[in-house]
Amino acid sequence: MREQKDIVISEHELAHQRACMEAVRDALARPLGYHIVTLGCQMNVHDSETIAGMLDEMGMTPVPTREEADLILYNTCCVRENAENKALGNVIWLKELKALKPSLIIGVGGCMMQEPGMAEKVRKMYPFIDLAFGTHNMHRLPELLLRVIGEKQRAIEVLNEDGGICEGLPVRRRNGFSAYINIMYGCNNFCSYCIVPYVRGRERSREQAKILEEAKRLAGDGVQEIMLLGQNVNSYMGGGARFAELLYQIDRLDIPRVRFMTSHPKDISDELIACFGELKHLCPQLHLPVQAGNNRVLAEMNRRYTREQYIEKVKKIRKIRPDIGLTTDLIVGFPGETLAEFEETVSLVDEVRYDAAYTFIYSPRPGTRAALMPDDTPMEEKSRRIQLLIGHQQKITTAVCEAQVGRIEPVLVEEVSARDDTCVAGKTARGHMVNFSGSASLIGRIVPVRITSAGKNTLRGEPVEQIKQ
Ligand code: SAH
Ligand code: SF4
Ligand code: F3S
Repeated sequence: MREQKDIVISEHELAHQRACMEAVRDALARPLGYHIVTLGCQMNVHDSETIAGMLDEMGMTPVPTREEADLILYNTCCVRENAENKALGNVIWLKELKALKPSLIIGVGGCMMQEPGMAEKVRKMYPFIDLAFGTHNMHRLPELLLRVIGEKQRAIEVLNEDGGICEGLPVRRRNGFSAYINIMYGCNNFCSYCIVPYVRGRERSREQAKILEEAKRLAGDGVQEIMLLGQNVNSYMGGGARFAELLYQIDRLDIPRVRFMTSHPKDISDELIACFGELKHLCPQLHLPVQAGNNRVLAEMNRRYTREQYIEKVKKIRKIRPDIGLTTDLIVGFPGETLAEFEETVSLVDEVRYDAAYTFIYSPRPGTRAALMPDDTPMEEKSRRIQLLIGHQQKITTAVCEAQVGRIEPVLVEEVSARDDTCVAGKTARGHMVNFSGSASLIGRIVPVRITSAGKNTLRGEPVEQIKQ
């Protein structure tokens, strides 16, 4: 195992990047407009916030469209083939944009760039890409940009060794009321279908003190909700502190809502389950991806729990927090999955009754173990199965929504409704989206709302007058 001191990126390297930020700022005749396109999971969304933070420091400003931008950056995902196709398809489109505007700088970063051979491919086949970096060297963006802007060179740099932890980079947050905090990076689980461990590297946890420092700062800024991020937060180990210990520390801060994702079911401990009963700020919401309902498939997936063990954990969690909203991820059409095995996924969904499920057709990822497994189920059949599963879950989601009617729930208002500007939308602690009449002045506030009716996936409500004590 690497020592923590080898994992944290050195102050010296960071000082160098800061100097590069200044050099870029000096080299620019005018502030460039940048546009970042983010594909993939919350981890990438948060990485893009850091990329934006660095670009701001370099004197650049965000612009709302790609057409207006002097610099376009794609933060890519490769977890399924369609994610990758989307990134590549977009990049080809950029070639035309660049033909019209030769000064345009095009950059590609993130998980897809970290795939073996991708840097070479970009170097040879996509000459219009000026800048490319992987997940392990995102903090080196200032130096790479300096090469492009100051020296008019291409900068394609992807590191093969495992990445580290970078503290103290600037971040441009999506809004002032809800924030992501990374607590760990990478994954050691090697589920047989999954490319994430290959492109995000081995697990490494941030020091508890650093996370608390960041959370305190956010609390001071009036942030109402934080989401702790990691591919498998249950195996967090920051300077010896376990995840549940970190949660206890965070609960002492003045942040009304705390959430985390993602939890691997095999690692969800009794100590962590107890947190749902004891911590006042921890939201009654848990994303607990099960992937499949059949034990043979689970074993082939290398998930290291059985259907029965999973259901046992769900029961324990519900005993402590009966109102918890559980969500999950499901893969349909894993190599060799029979109809009977698929039906066990459906029956598990019926048994657990999730608030929502994210369903995916299995997508072979080069370099993973499952990609070598024989897979003779036709795509048509896989599509039929996923539709059936989605139908089942939809009925449950709607029933869960209907069961919320009549309750009074605190809602954190996120935005003015897209369809009706006399309405606002926000989430309950459990994670349901609620629409109710109100104005933009409520954004970022937690207000009590009576749930009056349920749609298929969302709720409607009316604000409740707060009784002055
Ligand atoms: N660390 C998280 C998941 C990250 S990937 C976890 O373990 O839960 C998000 C989801 O994408 C996974 O839960 C899985 O359902 C899905 N997924 C990952 N690889 C996939 C593949 N090759 N084909 C289809 N779905 C996949
Ligand atoms: Fe992928 Fe499994 Fe790691 Fe999640 S736990 S990122 S599914 S290997
Ligand atoms: Fe995609 Fe990378 Fe997340 S592959 S799902 S963006 S960790």
